[in-house]
Amino acid sequence: MVRPQQRKILMTTQPAVPNVTLNNGVKVPQLGFGVFQVPPEETQRIVEDALEAGYRHIDTAAAYRNEAAVGAAIAASGIPREDIFLTTKLRNGEQGVAQEAFQNSCRELGVDYVDLYLIHWPVPSRNLFAEAWKAMEKLHASGQIRAIGVSNFLADHLEALLQSADVVPAVNQFELHPTFQQSELAAKSRSLGIAVEAYSPLGQGADLDAGAVTSIAGKYGVTPAQVVLAWHLAQGTIVIPKSANSGRMRDNLAAAGFVLTPEEMAGITALEAGARIGSDPAVAAHSQM
Ligand code: A2P
Repeated sequence: MVRPQQRKILMTTQPAVPNVTLNNGVKVPQLGFGVFQVPPEETQRIVEDALEAGYRHIDTAAAYRNEAAVGAAIAASGIPREDIFLTTKLRNGEQGVAQEAFQNSCRELGVDYVDLYLIHWPVPSRNLFAEAWKAMEKLHASGQIRAIGVSNFLADHLEALLQSADVVPAVNQFELHPTFQQSELAAKSRSLGIAVEAYSPLGQGADLDAGAVTSIAGKYGVTPAQVVLAWHLAQGTIVIPKSANSGRMRDNLAAAGFVLTPEEMAGITALEAGARIGSDPAVAAHSQM
């Protein structure tokens, strides 16, 4: 049993998480907490634990079906809304009705604004993302969304979007971890002023066994997850690792205080193996999402 006073002490031992400043001046805590694949019935407990651990950036999506539980956790935490950076995403099946979809997300989350709203997938076969973006630009202008961005956009999707966009996306969130880095896409995004956000930053756990990672972890007495997260953070990438375990949540957050040498960075970068885990955005439709 952890008494409140002890909890406070635990929290203050965590290193401060740096902010990344987006292209519209909005600041986002670089190390956030993702709830992809977190079952709705477990989400409230898990997000409450994450907030207790010190996370102040939560990433969900309408398609994860756990927005209501995320909102319940935020409300139960007593943390002021403005102290939490909250991201959610537009469902693929709702790109033609983005305004309504956004209002539904706000209702589910129990909030009157969202910090970052993303187009979840480009779904090029439906050719609706530019229309969805226009609706999101209106919501952004109205103040209901602090920053708008995209997810799973490849270079050609970014270029197509920019032909009609008035607002340059603030973020591109895509699969990025040592064995699947998409370095050209990251460079392209950054060259356009779009911040890179890594989902599955630990390769869903698969990249934690790599020798280049475990040897650094052993050398410094840190965990493999802290090594991988430090590698992301050093590149300016926003990360949203997921864990259902409060010890590992704290462990991951503490990566903010760990810095790798250039040689160690290069050793992890050399793990690139084209090992995609998720879907290929060039063809993914995920119409059920
Ligand atoms: P668990 O939820 O049991 O902690 P990603 O964020 O790349 O999708 O990775 C999430 C996966 O990695 C989950 O299976 C999670 O398991 C595991 N994971 C998260 N943090 C750690 C950690 N610090 N050490 C080991 N595994 C971790």
